[in-house]
Amino acid sequence: MLTAHVVYATMTGNNEEVANIVCDSLTRQGVDVIETEISQTDIDDFRKADILVVCAYTYDQGAMPEEGLDFYEDLQETDLTGKVYGVAGSGDKFYGEYFNTTVDHFDEAFKQAGATAGAEKVKIDLEPYEEDVEQLNEFATGLVKTASSR
Ligand SMILES: Cc1cc2nc3c(=O)[nH]c(=O)nc-3n(C[C@H](O)[C@H](O)[C@H](O)COP(=O)(O)O)c2cc1C
Repeated sequence: MLTAHVVYATMTGNNEEVANIVCDSLTRQGVDVIETEISQTDIDDFRKADILVVCAYTYDQGAMPEEGLDFYEDLQETDLTGKVYGVAGSGDKFYGEYFNTTVDHFDEAFKQAGATAGAEKVKIDLEPYEEDVEQLNEFATGLVKTASSR
């Protein structure tokens, strides 16, 4: 059975909702899923799963969640060869070039750690609506397909 660990960073709940949608979709596809908040997540526990997911917000014009910086640094220094990853996030299009930049930073960190992208990163504007749920379901399906084919 495939396992997944979904980590979220949130202030007002949107990214927890994004993470919940991904978790539900993975669970429906028969994956054994763990969901944790970023500041409560130890990288050594996180890296045990087959599928690794981060859902995190962007703040202050491109700033990453402060409570997630330790996790982010640990992620960059970890060897995630053989792991499948995906990054999704909710930001606000109002911030233009800084829209969901945290998603890009985590995507790069996973790549640097040697993990394989299982699905294209997903950037959501504010709360997830119906079409976003659809996109997150496809995201989760991509992760499962990639992980299953390894
Ligand atoms: C002061 C402030 C700065 C923000 N800066 C950005 C930003 O640079 N880029 C972005 O995409 N969203 C930005 N946002 C929007 C949040 O990322 C967005 O509301 C997101 O849905 C919040 O996620 P959460 O509900 O999980 O906390 C900012 C919001 C606030 C209040």
